Amino acid sequence: MRRILLTGGLGFIGSHLTRRLLADGFEVRVLDAARADARPFFAALVGADEVELRCSDVRTRDDVASALDGVDCVVHLAAQIGVRRYVANPVEVADVIYTGTKVVAEEALRREVPLCFVSSSEIYGRNPVVPWDEEADRVTGPPSTARWVYSTAKSVAEHLVYGLGAQGLGFWIVRPFNPYGPGLDPGAFITASLWRLRRGLPALLLDGGRQVRCFTYIDDIVDGISRALARPDAQGAAYNLGNDAPTTVAEALEVLAREVGRAGVTHARREASHLFGRGYDESSSRVPRIDRAKDALGWTPATIFADGVRATVAWVDDHGWWFDETAVAAR
Ligand SMILES: NC(=O)c1ccc[n+]([C@@H]2O[C@H](COP(=O)([O-])OP(=O)(O)OC[C@H]3O[C@@H](n4cnc5c(N)ncnc54)[C@H](O)[C@@H]3O)[C@@H](O)[C@H]2O)c1
Repeated sequence: MRRILLTGGLGFIGSHLTRRLLADGFEVRVLDAARADARPFFAALVGADEVELRCSDVRTRDDVASALDGVDCVVHLAAQIGVRRYVANPVEVADVIYTGTKVVAEEALRREVPLCFVSSSEIYGRNPVVPWDEEADRVTGPPSTARWVYSTAKSVAEHLVYGLGAQGLGFWIVRPFNPYGPGLDPGAFITASLWRLRRGLPALLLDGGRQVRCFTYIDDIVDGISRALARPDAQGAAYNLGNDAPTTVAEALEVLAREVGRAGVTHARREASHLFGRGYDESSSRVPRIDRAKDALGWTPATIFADGVRATVAWVDDHGWWFDETAVAAR
């Protein structure tokens, strides 16, 4: 395999994945709705000259078709992410995921190009029985609650991929669990908390911080995707890519505070509905079972949380321009 197309490749995961694939000797083509100059993190990490960039929407079939010409594989990352986005604009969030995945997967099948679909741990919703293996039930709230649109759209997109797989599409589905690291969206829990702590503000502790999460360092996520691409024999299945070391959000916040020299600081307690609107609903525990990725891909998350946080803080401190401007703009 020599040339890879990444949709949504200018984003957080796509930037790290591009760097890894280039280091592994691949040629990378990126199709993204944004222009590279609107994604300074990509330029900081990769250098826009090293890849072929095409600016288009994944729902534009002709552009996707021509971007697939001459590639050996496509990783489909393009999506609108973040709770604020899907609460504010559920129609766009659903359409980019559904229509975008349909177009990319159908065109990939037509050209016999294998597809790696980057789904999400969100598809399990708030299933209370953890750890979740890849066949665990989806448990969500009603469609009248916009909060579940991303989870549901990703799930429908997976149905499309499985369906086209039955018609001959070679595919892997990967489901990242709470990825974090340099370049993470400034509105995400870890980045927003660091931003506040660095400025002497209290971090926000939502709903008491009792939620259990498995924060997974970006290098591990990218390693899982890269291992999948190297294993045609592992096609036809979904893989959880998540740390198997659960922590509560309150504990995670203590690690962040310690890392920026503010151990023991009192955090500001808020209800999640304060940030995301009334009726906001959340899974109390999001924990993966990862035996399948271990067995089929030889993948294990290698980065412990404290080390990943240290690397994230170091990057933020070296790239204050990104952190300041985007974090301020996001508020
Ligand atoms: N970051 C997370 O917490 C997380 C967790 C699980 C799964 N994922 C999935 O991983 C993938 C990448 O996420 P990310 O964190 O890099 O997000 P990101 O927002 O940093 O990157 C997404 C990229 O997709 C592009 N994009 C959005 N709509 C598009 C469209 N219509 N056409 C073409 N490009 C479009 C954006 O411009 C952006 O560069 C997404 O599919 C997301 O659902 C992310």
